[in-house]
Amino acid sequence: MICIGHRGARGVYPENTIQSIEYAIDCGAPWVEIDVRAYQGRLLVIHDDTLERTTNGTGYVTDYSLLELRALDAGNGQSIPLLEEVIATVKQRAIINVELKDSTSTALVLSIIEQHIAKGWSYDDFLVSSFLHQDLQWLKHANPNIRIGALSAGVGIDDAGFAQSLAAYSINLCQESLNQKIIDDAHNRGLKVFVYTVNDTRDFIKLQHMKVDGVFTDYPEKLLKWLAR
Ligand code: G3P
Ligand code: MG
Repeated sequence: MICIGHRGARGVYPENTIQSIEYAIDCGAPWVEIDVRAYQGRLLVIHDDTLERTTNGTGYVTDYSLLELRALDAGNGQSIPLLEEVIATVKQRAIINVELKDSTSTALVLSIIEQHIAKGWSYDDFLVSSFLHQDLQWLKHANPNIRIGALSAGVGIDDAGFAQSLAAYSINLCQESLNQKIIDDAHNRGLKVFVYTVNDTRDFIKLQHMKVDGVFTDYPEKLLKWLAR
């Protein structure tokens, strides 16, 4: 079962910050997940479209200039990173799961991944996931080499056909809606199954028994220690 640091390691350091991502990698997480939003032609690594929860700012991201946003404190004195900064930090030490939070970010993520491929990165260094399946479809059509993860929070779904029809690499499911049928169905279709957000050791055990391929966790060190037991 693969350990995917959720928003870096949001249980330990401020989410989606360089510090959080760096810590997840230092712990040995082979994958890190981050959220991106497009803003004025750039990709901000931030989960919400508002600032209160994760920064010392207030209101909508779109109420501010890029310069003002970058001057905010996203925790421990860090600024909201740009996707390029995260990629430069990771330096191919982990696979980066970029989660698209808005449609506008899709073409920008495509462009940034292609720029990095041209510089020697591999398509295997990235997974682009989203709840926005039309955007994933557009991305896959634009460049079939890009791996995509179809996110779903749907309760009671037991058919992974929607992810297969997107030519996805993985189906990324929330723990609360998980059942054995969807896991087996996804595997039969050649898809990996990743589950979010898993922080409890009892759940690590349960999900490993269910043959889940990877879990997003806020505490990568805890999961990695458990995996290495
Ligand atoms: O990508 C897994 C998970 O991060 C999806 O939900 O809200 O944490 O971005 P959220
Ligand atoms: Mg996310």
